[in-house]
Amino acid sequence: MAEASGIETIKAVVEAKKSLPGALLPILHDIQDALGHVPSEAVPVIAAALNLSRAEVHGVISYYHHFRQHPAGHHVLRVCRAEACQSLGSEALADHAKATLGCDFHETTADGSFTLEPAYCLGQCACGPAMLIDDSEVHARLTPEKFDAIVAAKRGAE
Ligand code: FES
Repeated sequence: MAEASGIETIKAVVEAKKSLPGALLPILHDIQDALGHVPSEAVPVIAAALNLSRAEVHGVISYYHHFRQHPAGHHVLRVCRAEACQSLGSEALADHAKATLGCDFHETTADGSFTLEPAYCLGQCACGPAMLIDDSEVHARLTPEKFDAIVAAKRGAE
């Protein structure tokens, strides 16, 4: 979505949801769904509409890792960290992913290609470790080699 329309989108979402009980989280979800992240310019608009301080709104955005404060990379990699995948080596895979990408969970690679996020069960428990790419592509029984091949293929396709 074009950046110029961001503030209009934010205002429209706030207007539509501000009367709901507990409106803050639904507003943040809708803004992130529409824009891919919650831009800093959303904070004063939300604070004014909900009669909160900017610090309170910012505190909630920071508390929930789900909310991105910056645009995501071209691809979002969600590595499952739930129990079944952990027993099948997901922590080692996560360490490999971080080292390979040069970023931690909730961060984006320097070239903007990948954002690394944790997931908590992708419905592939018997064949972990599992990873979801761009909310549409599930990979199971991952190894460091498979991970590297997937990342290389995505980079090559850009
Ligand atoms: S625990 Fe990883 S897919 Fe279920």
